[in-house]
Amino acid sequence: MIYPIVKFGNPVLEKPAEKVTVFDEELKKLIDDMFESMYAARGVGLAAPQIGISRRIAVVDVTFKEDPDAKLVLINPEIIHKEGRHSQSEGCLSIPDFRENVSRAKVATIRAQDLTGKVFEKTADDLLARAFQHETDHLNGKLYISHISALKRDLIKRKIRKLVKAGEW
Ligand code: NI
Repeated sequence: MIYPIVKFGNPVLEKPAEKVTVFDEELKKLIDDMFESMYAARGVGLAAPQIGISRRIAVVDVTFKEDPDAKLVLINPEIIHKEGRHSQSEGCLSIPDFRENVSRAKVATIRAQDLTGKVFEKTADDLLARAFQHETDHLNGKLYISHISALKRDLIKRKIRKLVKAGEW
């Protein structure tokens, strides 16, 4: 099932999501649906709040279907180590048609559970490290625009308000 993507302005995107404690068939189905919804929206990462579900689950595939091994399920993820800094253009399915340079750690280690509940750690750099940080932020109710200057953020918010008024958001 493909879920519609929740856009900026919906409060579900700005509140911390609930920890996952039950690893059952329902969770597996939700994760399948999240991958399907992410691919349908042409994204490389999706957090559950972005489909209106406030639970600590994210899916990532920075290769966009090219490498089946690149499909990652992150349940209750935390960033446990960060190194270096790197600024790069970043976007979000919940803030469509906007992009900004965002400075983040170049290397990041995540600790998360897989869909069976098993804890794992993974270290990544560049795009995958960025995805780890971006998706973990989502589960803490934080969007990438919180990492840019107030000036740029206000400009984006003003443009979004106009789009909302015009019925285009
Ligand atoms: Ni996002």
